[in-house]
Amino acid sequence: MKRTLGVCYYPEHWPEAQWSTDASQMTAAGLTWVRIGEFGWSRMEPSPGKLTWEWLDRAIDVLGNAGLKVILGTPTATPPRWMIDKHPDMLAVDADGRTRKFGSRRHYDFSHLGYRDECKRIARLMGERYGRNPHVAAWQIDNEYDCHETTLSYSDAARNGFQDWLAQKYQSPDALNRAWGNVFWSMEYDSFDQIDLPNLTVTEPNHPHQLAFRRFSSDQVVAFNKVQADELRKHSDAPLIHNYMGRITAFDHWKVGADLDIASWDSYPIGFLSDRLEGSPDFKQAYLRQGHPDNQAFHHDLYRAVGKGRLWVMEQQPGPVNWAPYNPAPLPGMARLWTWEAFAHGAETVCYFRWRQAPFAQEQMHAGLLRPDSAPAPALAEARQVADEIAALPDVATAKAQAALVFDYESAWGWDAQPQGADFEMFRLAFAAYCALRRAGLSIDILPPETADLSGYKLVLAPGIMVLSDPLRAALARFEGTALLGPRTDTKTPELSIPTPMGPNLDGLDITVALTESMPPDDAITLEDGGQFHHWFEHLEGTAEIFTKTQSGHPAIMGNANVRYLAGWPDEATFDGIIQSLCTEHGIEVVKLPEGLRIRDTDTHRFIFNYANHPLTWNRTQIPAAGVHWEALS
Ligand code: GAL
Repeated sequence: MKRTLGVCYYPEHWPEAQWSTDASQMTAAGLTWVRIGEFGWSRMEPSPGKLTWEWLDRAIDVLGNAGLKVILGTPTATPPRWMIDKHPDMLAVDADGRTRKFGSRRHYDFSHLGYRDECKRIARLMGERYGRNPHVAAWQIDNEYDCHETTLSYSDAARNGFQDWLAQKYQSPDALNRAWGNVFWSMEYDSFDQIDLPNLTVTEPNHPHQLAFRRFSSDQVVAFNKVQADELRKHSDAPLIHNYMGRITAFDHWKVGADLDIASWDSYPIGFLSDRLEGSPDFKQAYLRQGHPDNQAFHHDLYRAVGKGRLWVMEQQPGPVNWAPYNPAPLPGMARLWTWEAFAHGAETVCYFRWRQAPFAQEQMHAGLLRPDSAPAPALAEARQVADEIAALPDVATAKAQAALVFDYESAWGWDAQPQGADFEMFRLAFAAYCALRRAGLSIDILPPETADLSGYKLVLAPGIMVLSDPLRAALARFEGTALLGPRTDTKTPELSIPTPMGPNLDGLDITVALTESMPPDDAITLEDGGQFHHWFEHLEGTAEIFTKTQSGHPAIMGNANVRYLAGWPDEATFDGIIQSLCTEHGIEVVKLPEGLRIRDTDTHRFIFNYANHPLTWNRTQIPAAGVHWEALS
């Protein structure tokens, strides 16, 4: 399949006379797709029931007639002001009990059933009107679930919904009391309507109470998405997409993805490095204008799996953004590099955000492909270059990777409720494991926690998986490659208590986490070979073979030929050493990469990306800073 490019466009922001010039410039730039509509509700329905589709009809016509394919967004991330008058209690409430106000976006509560019905209605109306429009070739539902931390709401609607959800799940207050261990601190309930949301308690609420609320809240996102998906499917065969974000674990993307056809995400590498990712000051300085060299790849691999093999980038950073603490411009070449990297990881389409920089409102300092005066911004030429390269290059097809990483949202909620060490976070641990695999030059697939088949993989990592699912446990027992579990894997029950026998309970392996320590940032456990564990260390007992020890003689890695358990959170160099020795033992090729270079293999090609801010050499080829190089695999 030929890869394609697109752009995000807001016809309602520009005079209608400008639309056709914009459309022809988009096609001239080599773009195929245009995403519109996702924030346009106040212009689609300016007052309740008054529908003014004509402008959108014309916009779709102009864009479509210019040869562009339209991705039409449902506008449910921005309910108009009248909606709040109609449903005053639809606004979400933060953990401190304060109602979040109108005046920006995402001002709604996922559990508010009245608002959910309004979204169902607008999705139905859009489906009826545009479902068979030949120019509408894909749909986007809502925009960035959980953006601005909007999954959790402590509203009346949430409390009522939570009580019903608990009643269905546990059937009786007694069963809930037992499951949660509510005899502790006399927390027992007599009825479900006594159970409040887990905020504003005197000290920490019970962990299973928090976990249940996270599960309930995630289910609300899944249900909110599904009502719109069901409506659109009645009227359209075009694929349904949502644009997920980076580093968001607040809802179960595997479950939302099950109701959609394609997973897309919004990639802002420089904003992310500055705002959302860990890294030393030197590291952040070195990648200031390129972004973290593994962050984009991680999310491509994650969402390729969430999309059951179908991945898009719905929004690609083109220049400085407006929302990070500092907003430097990308190095020349980075917009092209990020785009090719997405393709190499299986993306079918990459859309830039946005066409023209808006001279007004919140995002006026956010770059686009055009400046506010319509002159080209630097990324436009890079997009044009990619379009030409796509035309010239034989197609690239995603290959099955040698290495895999299991990623689980429920574990993220469990560890948020019970971090035990201030910096224990699921994303961070999984990302550390992913980066170690990638620094070894491996291509990686990310797998859901219910994975039942590991065949074909040589190396599988499953750090921090709170409870191994039955299918995954069985797959591990049959696995012929090598799996590295831990730390913290299979050490809890689904209710976040300690199982008996204590975990991990792995088939044929006698290993028990007997005691757990977390450590402040400057402390570490040193291993026999000089490596170090930070943040976390588990004292392992059992008769399984010990492969590595700490300096004080505790097991650091235990297991057998196929399944090993890692007792701590290795620092970068230690993780690299562990991956290398597992690869050597199992005959997996490790590629020595200079710092800043990353590779990704497709079926036919090896892609090499230079994330460094200076040229680097690969097999005697010099790759400039922000350069991309590809070579056919023999
Ligand atoms: C995304 C969002 C867009 C725009 C963009 C700016 O999070 O989906 O609407 O706000 O960020 O970088």
